[in-house]
Amino acid sequence: MLPLPDIADNPIPTIYLDNAATSFPKPEAVYADVDAWTRRGGIAFGRGSHSAGNEAAQMVTVCRSRLAQLLNAESSDRIAFTFNCTDGLNLLLRGILRSGDRVITTDLEHNSVLRPLQQLQSELNLDVVRVGFDRATGIVNEAAINNELSKAATRLVVLNHASNVTGVIQPAKSIAAAAQSAGALCLLDAAQTIGHLPVDLQDIGADLMATAGHKGLLGPLGTGLIYVRAGLDAELRPIRCGGTGTVSELLSQPETMPSKLESGNMNMPGLAGLNAAVQWLLQHDIAVLHDQVTTRVLELHQKLSAISGITTYSNPAETSNAGIISFTINGVDSHEAATILDQSFGIQCRAGLHCAPLVHETLGTLASGGTIRFSPGPFTTDEHIAATVQAVQQIARAFSPAS
Ligand SMILES: Cc1ncc(COP(=O)(O)O)c(C=O)c1O
Repeated sequence: MLPLPDIADNPIPTIYLDNAATSFPKPEAVYADVDAWTRRGGIAFGRGSHSAGNEAAQMVTVCRSRLAQLLNAESSDRIAFTFNCTDGLNLLLRGILRSGDRVITTDLEHNSVLRPLQQLQSELNLDVVRVGFDRATGIVNEAAINNELSKAATRLVVLNHASNVTGVIQPAKSIAAAAQSAGALCLLDAAQTIGHLPVDLQDIGADLMATAGHKGLLGPLGTGLIYVRAGLDAELRPIRCGGTGTVSELLSQPETMPSKLESGNMNMPGLAGLNAAVQWLLQHDIAVLHDQVTTRVLELHQKLSAISGITTYSNPAETSNAGIISFTINGVDSHEAATILDQSFGIQCRAGLHCAPLVHETLGTLASGGTIRFSPGPFTTDEHIAATVQAVQQIARAFSPAS
């Protein structure tokens, strides 16, 4: 094997290509507002009988309405805050499913869907059906979903809006429409789309949606949100009950959104940061940011595919992509490649199954330890991409049987 550089001998700035896990860097205003909020006395939402408490309520209200604007929700009370996307998915799955319900989901799902469903399947005796996706395009088998919907009454279709392994955006609008005409609800796991690209929830027709605040939305870790379509409140059981700072004379959980789903003190520093991040996104136009990331993903795909010994998965030139590319290097374990990228080239990415094991069964990437995943963000530059392609070239050459 050819020698690879040691970053300790020649320190270079880090290139961050793991925005699908959590975005970095964040807009400057995010750091400033988290810091300011934490220093100004840990103001809680709906708890203090003083002017700072009103300020906290005001900030949360503004953040909620900015998100409602960004997502085209019917109104801001359709949005409830959570601590990450997993938390939101658990609240929605547990809140909406009842004993014996039938659920259709896909092999594209993250463990944040697969594991709660597996647990609920035994607790509630659910009938869970999974459909596959096309290996070449990365697109879910929509005909199979329609076929399953026609077979038996279904309560819920749970769909990954964009795969966190391939980045491929799924046909959510037509699947939501098919679910609706079959009398089922549609829950979108939008961890990889919200903030990454323009998403109009009413246009898509999603009934329920969970996402993270710390990924495409550029907010701090420990933030997330869910959307509940107007008219569904009565069907959604609150999973976390407790103090909401509202109607405190009631011993029962409030019936109205969003307090129905928001018990206990919120992550106020996180929400202050999220509020600043969403304002930044509204000012910068997500469509423009998405175009920029798409250009970088297309370039990565084109240049990496041309390197001998590299296999890429799903072509962003052929299917819409949320900003992710996965690949393997012939004969190199994906974790080992990621360690070399980090230690020899200062490139931070993610390797492995990306918490989506079933995707790798279809892609055939279990034996290579999953895939190496690059996910650029709004702050990724042309220089980052050029340096990354060169680094992969060097690794592939170093490990090629000829070397
Ligand atoms: C598709 C998908 N769903 C859910 C999650 C979980 O997100 P969180 O870490 O915010 O819980 C992720 C995280 O990578 C994801 O990619």
